[in-house]
Amino acid sequence: MSLILLLLSSLLVNAAHLPKPRAADCQPLYITFADSFLPRELVPISHSDSYDVSDGGLHMYLERPGGDVRTKDGVNDKVADGATFNSTFAFLYGKVTYELIAPTIPGVVTAAILIADEGDEMDIELLGSDPSHFQSNIFAPKPNDRGPLYGVFSSVDDIPDGTTKTVHSYSIDWNAERIIWSVDGKDIRTLRKDQTMYHGVQHFPSSHPTRIQLGIWDASSPAGTAAWAHGPIDWKNVPRRMEAVVKSVKLECT
Ligand SMILES: *[C@@H]1O[C@H](CO)[C@@H](O)[C@H](O)[C@H]1NC(C)=O
Repeated sequence: MSLILLLLSSLLVNAAHLPKPRAADCQPLYITFADSFLPRELVPISHSDSYDVSDGGLHMYLERPGGDVRTKDGVNDKVADGATFNSTFAFLYGKVTYELIAPTIPGVVTAAILIADEGDEMDIELLGSDPSHFQSNIFAPKPNDRGPLYGVFSSVDDIPDGTTKTVHSYSIDWNAERIIWSVDGKDIRTLRKDQTMYHGVQHFPSSHPTRIQLGIWDASSPAGTAAWAHGPIDWKNVPRRMEAVVKSVKLECT
């Protein structure tokens, strides 16, 4: 046996004794905002550091951009930079519940998502123009996709009591077989792995640990985004600063 083969086989034998790489463990967690500082499990990741922890909530602000904002052809020439947060940890499979108050102003989007470095994503998006519905979506990019599949797995569903209540809890319950979105404890949408075939390839977020990401953003440009959000934001007639409030974030390991 050559030296190289010997070395290789001893490497293989050693490898067999190493512990297998483990999926990121899910650690149960319940974040509330009773103190006036940001819990260590969340970090701001936007350029804008406009947020505030007060009155039992994380207030994520979206502020009018400086100078004049001109609207032309359905888009604004300036887009505001809203507050966005990542969790400091990632996990593979679990149930996340976000308790949120989203602003009801057209062109503003509040997002509570799960996102992996590899691009896998599970979304809840609340459009300020449509407070009685929530949008859900997933992404699991595959090498042969020609771009992000924005419209393939998206859905718009009713928020029960959407127009009478302002605080709602939204859950994304994710395991290897399916994702269940629920609102205020009611299951609203289930997407099974076998329903995510597209061009012969399954597009189900799996194997990549995801982070929790929360944010408020200005959907005033480009045109397609503004049209989707029923924007652009009409800054002349809305408060100079808008906010989405996160009351709690819970992670259950199912
Ligand atoms: C936020 O989390 C995503 C998903 O893990 C990661 O790709 C991204 O780099 C993070 N952003 C920052 C600024 O850390």
